[in-house]
Order: sequence, then C-alpha cells, then structure tokens
Amino acid sequence: MLEEKLRQLGQGHIARLLESGSAYVSRREIARDLEEIDAPLVRELIAGRFLYEEPAVTAVKPAPVIPASFSSSPESSRFRRHGETLLSQGRVAALVVAGGQGSRLGIDAPKGVVGVTPVRRKSLFQLHAEKILALSNKYAQPIPLFVMTSRANDADTKDFFTAHSFFGLNPDDVFFFVQGMLPSITPEGSFVLSREGGLFMNPDGHGGTLSALKKSGCLDTLKERGIEEIFYFQVDNPLVSICDPLFVGLHSLKGAQMSSKVVRKKSFEEKVGVIAEVEGRTRVLEYSDMNDDMRYAVDGEGEMLYWAGSIAIHMIRRDFVETLTGSAVRLPFHKALKTIPTVDSRGRPTEIQGIKFETFIFDALPMAEKSVTLEVLREREFAPVKNRTGEDSLETSRIMQSNLHRSWLEDLGVNISDRSIVEISPLAALEKDDLRARGKIPPMEVDGELYIP
Ligand code: UTP
Repeated sequence: MLEEKLRQLGQGHIARLLESGSAYVSRREIARDLEEIDAPLVRELIAGRFLYEEPAVTAVKPAPVIPASFSSSPESSRFRRHGETLLSQGRVAALVVAGGQGSRLGIDAPKGVVGVTPVRRKSLFQLHAEKILALSNKYAQPIPLFVMTSRANDADTKDFFTAHSFFGLNPDDVFFFVQGMLPSITPEGSFVLSREGGLFMNPDGHGGTLSALKKSGCLDTLKERGIEEIFYFQVDNPLVSICDPLFVGLHSLKGAQMSSKVVRKKSFEEKVGVIAEVEGRTRVLEYSDMNDDMRYAVDGEGEMLYWAGSIAIHMIRRDFVETLTGSAVRLPFHKALKTIPTVDSRGRPTEIQGIKFETFIFDALPMAEKSVTLEVLREREFAPVKNRTGEDSLETSRIMQSNLHRSWLEDLGVNISDRSIVEISPLAALEKDDLRARGKIPPMEVDGELYIP
C-alpha cells in the first residue's frame, strides 16, 4: 500500500497527508512517482551512501592527450580509415542525451527544438539528424540514432521528430529511450511535494544513460544491430562532429573502452571539467574538484598544466556498457543544491532549497581499463548553447557556427564581407573538402546572408 511504502522510505509526512485526504496531494501522482523510484537506492542516497567523493588531489597528474595537430599528420590516416571502415560496416551508433531540463536557457520545451543555426534557424535535432543522414549516405550504411529523453520531455521530443518526418531519417533507425528519475529531498532527507500533488523529481543526470539503455532494451537493440561502438554527445552543441572517423578509429584501434574529446581551456578560471589521471586512471575532474594549486598549476614552460577541458563527447564500447550495467558497480551520485518549487502546509505555492541527486557519464571513465583523449579545436567542434545571454548562448554559438563555415569558404578562395553570415547545411558538406567535391562553392564574392543547402 502507498502509505506503507512511503513509511518504509522514511516519508511518513506524505503518508499522513494522504491519510488525511489533503486536497493538494494526489494519490495517483504519488503512486506514479513511487512506481518509478528505485526504493533501495533512494534509501541509501538519503542515508548518504553511493555519493561522489572528491579524489585526493595529491594523486593527480595530467592525462596523456593526442594533440589536435595529429589529425593532419600522415599517421592519422590509418586510424581515420579504420573509423570509416567501422562506419561503413554499420558498427557505430550515435547517441544524443537530451533529457536535461535546460533551466539556464529557460525555455518551456526540449532544448533540441531550439532554432540554433545562424541563417535558417534549424533546430538542434534537425541539425544532428541531417549530419547523421549525410554520414549514412556517405558510408552507404544507416547510422542508428539513439535519443535519451526524460519523463518531462519524451512526448514533446517524439512529437517534434514525427511532425518533421524524422528530418529525412528512417524512423526505424531512430530510437527514443527515457532516463530515470530521482526524488529531490530536503537537507533533512524528506521528499518534497510538487505543485501537481506528486513528488518533486529530477532526471537522474546524463550518467543515467547507462542504466536507461539497459532498462529500455536499447542495449539489446544495439547488440542485435551489430553495433560495437557508441558515439555519445550532448544535444546542445551544434558544432559536434558526429561519429568523427578519426576519433572512432583511434578509440577502437587503441583498444579503449571509453574515450573523450577535449579542447584547450580558455583561461585558468574557465569552469569546465578537465581530463586528468588519478592513480593511473583517466577521469574528469570537475572545476569544483580542483583546488587553487591544481587550477593554477603550470608546466616547465609556464603553460597551463590542466588545460584539457572535457566537451562531453565520448566513444563508448557497447560491451563496456554491458559490463557496467551487468555488475554491481554504480556511478557515484553527485549532490546539488537547488531551488525547488513546492507548496507550503496549506497548499500555497512556495520555494525551498533542496537537494537533487545526479550521476555523470564521465564518472564511467575511470572504470575503463584504457581510454584515449583527443584534443580538438574549440572553434571547429564546440559551441554549446547553455545560457540565455553572454557566454555559451545562442548568440555566441551562432557566431561560431557562421565563423567556421566562413573559414571553409575563405580557405577555398571565396571573398566574404565582414557583415556576412554563413550557414552550410550538413547535407551539403560535413567538412570543407565536401564542398569542393560536390561543386558547392558559391560565386567568389559573398555579401549578406548565405545558406548552402
Ligand atoms: P547540462 O548539464 O548542460 O544540463 O546537460 P541542461 O539540462 O541541458 O541545462 P541546465 O543545466 O538545466 O541549464 C548537458 C547535456 O546532458 C543532458 C542535457 O540534455 C544536455 O544534452 N542531460 C542532462 C540529460 O540528458 N539528462 C540529465 O539528467 C541531465
């Protein structure tokens, strides 16, 4: 019975509200929420177990990184070719995590529907789908797309794909799966009521990808389709080079279970996690995990020591996910303080400071025996849309997208005025060389908006 279940979780205050027939508590909502909760896990979290512990920084050193210059070296071709072979054999899937709440952007829709491109205002989902379509055409092999949603945005996400005919992808090659939810709690460990009369829950973080893949059956689907490697990325980066063959090939040929792309940090203070080696294992140290000695550490030449900023792009072997999800190993839970909209004892709207629990995908890195870290150039591959204004906003991202495409054309000899805004469809070119190969180079002077379809 519901009340009994709540009491077992130490949540007698909600059981009492149900018993008293309180008007602002919904039995149906609470039942639905409890259904989703992994009760033993929640009990442990409230008791302070399974939580993330900061590593001792004394054991930390920079991780080896393959420099960005490698991509133009002759040795890189062997790895790129291997990546291309895997793609043309249908061994690679793309997986985008899109279950986040997008609270900083402050929109009431899945982030993937936001129009991000500089000229056509294509949505993130359209842009990613077109890249996958272009790759599937290039390698004459459908590349399946797995989309992680959350309870809050699953229906809207699917509707968006359906309304746009899956942006040209075959619906049989697109798989949606829903991540898990966890109840937020007060600092004393009590569940918080939502304004809808249920429990206030939050998605379990992008680390929830692993368990959600398993629970949804998508992990089996990956296996059935002969997929060996998963290209993991976040929905909010329009510059992501999906299934980049060099990255796929490096990760696979070097026998890694999970690999990462990094960019050079802009400054010591840039708040991104860095890839480091802790007791011989590669991992991401969050900005908050670093003390000032680490943050400001320099090498022999006075250059930043921990410069390798993670951009949340990973290759993950399918059998590594199987191993992790098939064992008792769990990703650690990070606690974050947040403002929670709730109701007071008379059912009136109010807010409290509470705690949400989340897991992060990069905490799987140290569980990998082998990991490859590849540096890429920020201006080519990372322009995230996180904030309404200022850094990492729609505005900065559109400028970066336009600048990249402008640079491709300029390299090909096109003259482009300063005020021009440029957008090249992924269906026209995934990289500069595709433009020439397909005869898509525009007239030699460009002034104003330019879209190459
Ligand atoms: P962020 O940490 O940037 O969160 O997620 P967010 O939800 O997009 O934005 P804020 O922090 O609320 O403003 C990075 C990526 O991880 C996904 C997001 O959708 C985004 O692609 N994510 C995050 C999930 O899929 N699930 C989660 O529980 C959290």
